[in-house]
Amino acid sequence: MGSNLKLNDQIEQYINSHSIKLHPVQYEIIKYNETLGEIKKMQISISQCHFLHFIVKIIKPKNILEIGTFTGLSALTMSLAMDKNSKLTALDKNEETSNVAMSFFKKAKIDNKINLHVNNAIVTLEELHNQKKKFDFIFIDADKENYINYFNNSLNILDNNGIIVVDNVLWYGDVADQNKNDRLTIKIREFNKFIKDDNRVESLILPIGDGLFICRKK
Ligand SMILES: C[S@@+](CC[C@H](N)C(=O)[O-])C[C@H]1O[C@@H](n2cnc3c(N)ncnc32)[C@H](O)[C@@H]1O
Repeated sequence: MGSNLKLNDQIEQYINSHSIKLHPVQYEIIKYNETLGEIKKMQISISQCHFLHFIVKIIKPKNILEIGTFTGLSALTMSLAMDKNSKLTALDKNEETSNVAMSFFKKAKIDNKINLHVNNAIVTLEELHNQKKKFDFIFIDADKENYINYFNNSLNILDNNGIIVVDNVLWYGDVADQNKNDRLTIKIREFNKFIKDDNRVESLILPIGDGLFICRKK
C-alpha cells in the first residue's frame, strides 16, 4: 500500500508558497483574525482557500451557498473565484462578525455578488427551501452539533450533481482516535458515519486543513 506524506509546518509553508497567490483582502482578513485570539482558529486554512478557489474555478457554480461565514475568508475566497454572473449566499447568526465580513467584501469590491443572511442558519435554510431556491455548490462550516441538519437541509436545495463540501471532519485527527470521546468528537464521528452510509451522495474525505468531506449528489 502506498504511504501518505505526514505534513509539518515546514512542508505546509512550502506548499502554500508554491500555490495560488491570495488576494490582498484575503491576507487582510487573515491578519485581522490574528488579532482575535483563540477564535481565529475558526477561519479556514490557507490550503483550504487554495482548494476552494480551484474547485470553484473548475465546477463554475452559478449559485453558491455558505453556512458559517465568520469574518468572511471562505466566502471571499469562493466569490473571487466565481464566474462574473454567479452569486454567493452566506449564512451566519453573528451580527458583529457578519458586519466585519461585509466590510471586507466591500473592500474587495465583491459585495454586489454576496447576499449575507444574519440569522440562525436552520431558519434561513427553511426559508430558502420554501422560496424554491436552488444551489449547485454548498460549503458547510458552522456549529458541528447541527452538521447532520445542515447536510439534510442542504441536499433539499442542491441540484443533482451539485457538490457539498464540509469542513472540520477530521477534527484535529481525533475522530480516528478511539481514546478521544468528547462531545464534539463524537458528533463529528456520527456525522462522518451518516455521510458514509448516505446513498444519496458519493463522497470522499480529503486531508486538507482540518479535513474536508466532498460530497456529490447523485
Ligand atoms: C468555523 S466559523 C466559519 C469560518 C468561516 N468559514 C471562515 O472561513 O472564516 C463558524 C461560524 O458559524 C456560525 N454559526 C454557528 N452556529 C450557527 C447557526 N446556528 N446559524 C448560523 N451561523 C452559525 C458562527 O457564528 C461562526 O461565525
